[in-house]
Amino acid sequence: MRILIIGGGGFVGRKLASRLAERGTLRGTDITHLALADIAAPSAIDAAFAVTAHTLDIADRGAVDAMISEDWDVIYHLAAVVSAEAEADFVAGMRTNFFGTFNLLEACRDRVETPVIVYASSVASYSTDVPQPIRDWTATTPQTSYGTQKAIGELLLNDYSRRGFIDGRGVRLPTVVVRPGKPNAAASSFFSSIIREPLQGDPAMCPVSTDQEVWLASPRVTVENLVKVAEIDGAALGGIRNFSLPGMTITVAAMLAALEKVAGENVLGLVDHERDPTIEKIVQGWSSRLETDVADTLGLDRDEDFERIIRDFMATDMEPADP
Ligand SMILES: NC(=O)c1ccc[n+]([C@@H]2O[C@H](COP(=O)([O-])OP(=O)(O)OC[C@H]3O[C@@H](n4cnc5c(N)ncnc54)[C@H](O)[C@@H]3O)[C@@H](O)[C@H]2O)c1
Repeated sequence: MRILIIGGGGFVGRKLASRLAERGTLRGTDITHLALADIAAPSAIDAAFAVTAHTLDIADRGAVDAMISEDWDVIYHLAAVVSAEAEADFVAGMRTNFFGTFNLLEACRDRVETPVIVYASSVASYSTDVPQPIRDWTATTPQTSYGTQKAIGELLLNDYSRRGFIDGRGVRLPTVVVRPGKPNAAASSFFSSIIREPLQGDPAMCPVSTDQEVWLASPRVTVENLVKVAEIDGAALGGIRNFSLPGMTITVAAMLAALEKVAGENVLGLVDHERDPTIEKIVQGWSSRLETDVADTLGLDRDEDFERIIRDFMATDMEPADP
């Protein structure tokens, strides 16, 4: 089993790589090679099988062709210019999110083998402009360039699968919280910052009303589901290869209440509140209430308890406070 993770140096990519290293198998077969590709070569991980790191710009068709000229059984496409950055820089978003996805699909079309492709789409493919809750068959009506680029990728993945060029499955990730490390350029980044920073002794800014809801999932459950999604029988999905991953709906107020319960009221003093209309507009356009019939039928996992998500972060990813 040879696996390629494009975007393998990112948050989800690194977590997924570690989980695959722990498991040692995918789709019932021993993993023999895991390749991590990203715009800057990702750092290596320990595994009982070969792990290689590659510099790859997915927007460079020649480079993608060269990478795909090797045989990959499963390709995870996690590379993206994320939401706020794609909104601020339209060309950068189109380049990676649209042309990059197209490059990958085209490179796979030229292959005799039919790789399984797991594509990370987003809840940003949907909007609040249609009746809620969102179902798997609700029309995608994105209200950001990032969401539009993700939705285009979903359509292409579907058609390339229908044509038999790939065996694709596109999953709309909820906002993944708590993200370790530093804030990123996603409009959703603060959902992690307001938990992570106070726990690590640093200040955080909440740019939205505490009534704001979010559809979120933990890194642990997201990665587990990405593994399961690679293992399902693609043909069983029929003609609709894209669906939403399970998440939980929670308000910022409930997230902060859980933080207080886990870490004490003092940490809440590190969270300041100042509304940012740009972030607020993007986040308000994302649906926070989804029904996940397809994922539920497939037996995918779901977070139920935000306090557990905080405790998991403290146990696995929390960095010591600066001296
Ligand atoms: N984390 C979330 O909350 C969330 C929610 C919904 C969807 N997603 C999607 O899941 C995927 C993984 O998310 P993440 O949180 O790990 O994001 P991330 O930003 O941490 O990782 C994405 C990676 O893609 C790489 N990349 C960007 N442009 C590239 C290019 N031209 N060529 C090659 N690599 C490039 C980046 O360097 C980065 O390492 C993304 O596609 C994202 O859109 C994430």
